[in-house]
Amino acid sequence: MKGIVLAGGSGSRLYPITKVYSKQLVVIYDKPLIYYPISVLMLGGIKEILIISNKETIPLYRQLLGDGSHLGVRFEYVVQDAPNGIAEAFILGENFIGSDGVTLILGDNIFYGNLDFFYRALQQKKGATIFGYRVNDPERYGVVDFDKEGNALSIEEKPKQPKSNYAVPGLYVYDNNVVPIAKSITPSPRGELEITDVNNVYLKQKKLRVEKVGRGVAWLDTGTPEALLQASNFFGVIEDRQGLKVACLEEIAYLKKFISKESFTALVGSLPKSMYREYLEKIFQED
Ligand code: DAU
Repeated sequence: MKGIVLAGGSGSRLYPITKVYSKQLVVIYDKPLIYYPISVLMLGGIKEILIISNKETIPLYRQLLGDGSHLGVRFEYVVQDAPNGIAEAFILGENFIGSDGVTLILGDNIFYGNLDFFYRALQQKKGATIFGYRVNDPERYGVVDFDKEGNALSIEEKPKQPKSNYAVPGLYVYDNNVVPIAKSITPSPRGELEITDVNNVYLKQKKLRVEKVGRGVAWLDTGTPEALLQASNFFGVIEDRQGLKVACLEEIAYLKKFISKESFTALVGSLPKSMYREYLEKIFQED
């Protein structure tokens, strides 16, 4: 299974925060936003990750994340010339995906809690799995409607009159057919290759699973300054209470055994003196 983080877009809704650099580099409490979606892929055991963004921001991601070898993973980078839609990720990522399945996560989506719903999806070999998460304001998202047995009936992108309160989060697990499907769809009236159209092809083919995610999982919004502050506060509270970090990529690489004890020690030793480094030293001593 390969992973893609889509981390481009214009970010215009957060102007002027996003005037100079992309939204996914904005800080959520103590680390850049993009760490959170990357951590989800790594926790799922995904070690080959493609990061897609605009040409101005790719050099910054390279600076931040490198080739991934220090984390025992491989990061590749591809430029998206314009925000032509989420589904373009599979066309831009065709060579990277090769003959594998692929998980796409949007670079501004944060998940926290028990990720079993995602790990279960990764076990599936065929078709696609997307998720349904209850929200107060479904009209801002892709919305999935279920029948009484919990089967998905329809998925609509930002409907004015949502048929349910279940939004589709930006985490999607696909088999290799997603590449030809993405190539087969046409741009929507707003000029984008919509991820919802890809999901609707799978739905029509009866190859789409939609799993409801329970209330114990936090899927946080990052679309407004208030939401960014709320997310920072949320992780500030949790990290302070537990003395453990969320989405600390070095820690995840170590705990998932992507890197050896020796490599971890060398990696921590190479970090500037900081609270982040002290935290990793503590993790190592407690292990
Ligand atoms: O967050 C979940 C929602 O994400 C889903 O419920 C919707 O079905 C899906 O369409 C998407 O809706 P958004 O309105 O949030 O999409 P947005 O255009 O804001 O793009 C999401 C992220 O992907 C954003 O960080 C920018 C990035 N992006 C987006 C597009 C369209 C790109 O990197 N390239 C693109 O071409």
